[in-house]
Amino acid sequence: MRAALEAARSGANVAMLSKVYPVRSHSNAAQGGINAALTDRGDDWHEHAYDTVKGSDFLGDQDAIEVMCREAGQELINLEHMGVIFNRDEEGRLGTRALRRTAARPHVLRRRHHGAGDPARDVRADPQVQRSRLRRVVRHGTLITDHGRCGGVVAMEMRTGEVHAIRAKATILATGGLGRVFEPSTNALICTGDGMSLAYRAGAPLMDMEMVQYHPTTLKGSGVLLSEGARGEGAYLINSRGERFMERYAPNMMELASRDVVSRAEITEINEGNDIDGCVLLDCRHLGRAKIMERLMYIHEVAMDLVGVDIIKDPVPIRPGVHYQMGGIKTDVDGRCWDPSGKWKGVEGLFAAGETACVSVHGGNRLGANSLLDTVIFGRRSAEAAMAYASGNNHLEFSEDTWVGGEKAMMQGFLDNSGGDLVARVRLDMATAMDEGLGVYRLEEGMQEALDKVRGMKDRFKNVVVQDKGKAFNTNLIFALELGCMLDCAEAIAVGAIDRKESRGAHSRLDYAARDDENWMKHILLYQGPGNEVTKEYVPIVITQWQPEERKY
Ligand code: FUM
Repeated sequence: MRAALEAARSGANVAMLSKVYPVRSHSNAAQGGINAALTDRGDDWHEHAYDTVKGSDFLGDQDAIEVMCREAGQELINLEHMGVIFNRDEEGRLGTRALRRTAARPHVLRRRHHGAGDPARDVRADPQVQRSRLRRVVRHGTLITDHGRCGGVVAMEMRTGEVHAIRAKATILATGGLGRVFEPSTNALICTGDGMSLAYRAGAPLMDMEMVQYHPTTLKGSGVLLSEGARGEGAYLINSRGERFMERYAPNMMELASRDVVSRAEITEINEGNDIDGCVLLDCRHLGRAKIMERLMYIHEVAMDLVGVDIIKDPVPIRPGVHYQMGGIKTDVDGRCWDPSGKWKGVEGLFAAGETACVSVHGGNRLGANSLLDTVIFGRRSAEAAMAYASGNNHLEFSEDTWVGGEKAMMQGFLDNSGGDLVARVRLDMATAMDEGLGVYRLEEGMQEALDKVRGMKDRFKNVVVQDKGKAFNTNLIFALELGCMLDCAEAIAVGAIDRKESRGAHSRLDYAARDDENWMKHILLYQGPGNEVTKEYVPIVITQWQPEERKY
């Protein structure tokens, strides 16, 4: 929406396609706020940048991280001018009342969120939404490409089942993450990696796909997120013995070490038998009722509603759950999915921003509250670059009938299937295989097993049965299309993870337990070939001012 808004404000004709009404898109679930150094009042963006580089385990590209952190303060002011209401201090300025610590930020966190009280309750009424021009809810289907250039999309209108070709000089993908490739996940059901798969099928590379973030505090059973904000306010993590076990894993930062470090500590405790029914505990009791009800009201409500725990009186069972994909469609800092200098291949006229993209600002591990920042900075920048591209290029010529006909035939194929698996069966098998083989700790054998299973599921997928034969709101068919995207992503995650023979950030291998800067200061790019085979390429990590060092918290 930030991209659409920027392009529309600059006078472009913009069509925004979404498979859900925009206020239902997953950014809406963000609880942690947005990081920014307000440089106009003396904050130093370098501190934010260093924390981000270190948090990424030195896999993030430092030129991109510099762009994001340097532009963050101004972007926050831009958002304010558009009408986003952030918390203010007593003098009416974006101020200390709005600040809260999140993980892996030893420097004072420049966190701002709108509304007073519990930020998690206030992040929903984004005025950008009101300014977007949504006409119809559609599910994007396929990118129209010819000779490595994108000319728009073929999309299905969910309300009617009609298929349309939408011509565009420039196309920006901002389709979010792939969390539902794993179960359980903090992500909404819609987070099925559609954009990554679309770009991948069209010939653009996916980068750093092995870097999947497990968030340390997700609720027992459902995997619903309990915000890091709880630990930011001082909540403890304890094991079945009542010990604050983070003392042993991150003596300085304790519960606020980076997410990969805390998730590994929790799984180690669970594996060593210091668990309660496969979980450890988030303990907020010492914070007291007043603070909990002022600052953690949403967490209080969620824990009460979903597991019947009153966090004022009792600790709540949690465990790590899949939360975020650091990898995605490779882009430059202007969202381009191709490299004008030709060092890597891609799709011209295609842009990407947000979780679907890999700029890369998160590397091996994303910091809390850097994801909304990524979306607004690179959303705006990709729109600026897309505008420049569109003004210098004509529409791509293509046969509408051919593209629409091809897409309809593919969908009809699913409707005609009989005797295969149900979509939900394959989806659950895939998610379980991914969680088992590519979880917090990884081993070659387990990853290979998951990859073999996923490849088997790609065959089963061809015959999946869509029971709903109707046209209007055929969610069964949509789930089938999403499953195809998820399987592409699952395969890419497994291939990348098997290839990276070291441990870095969220990619933690028991068989290669150390970070290997000598051999692995590089990104893995994956391409899908014409026969669906996966090919690899490597590009070096960009270092500007922070040399790799041991990462301690
Ligand atoms: O824990 C959280 O509030 C999550 C925030 C984030 O992923 O940025």
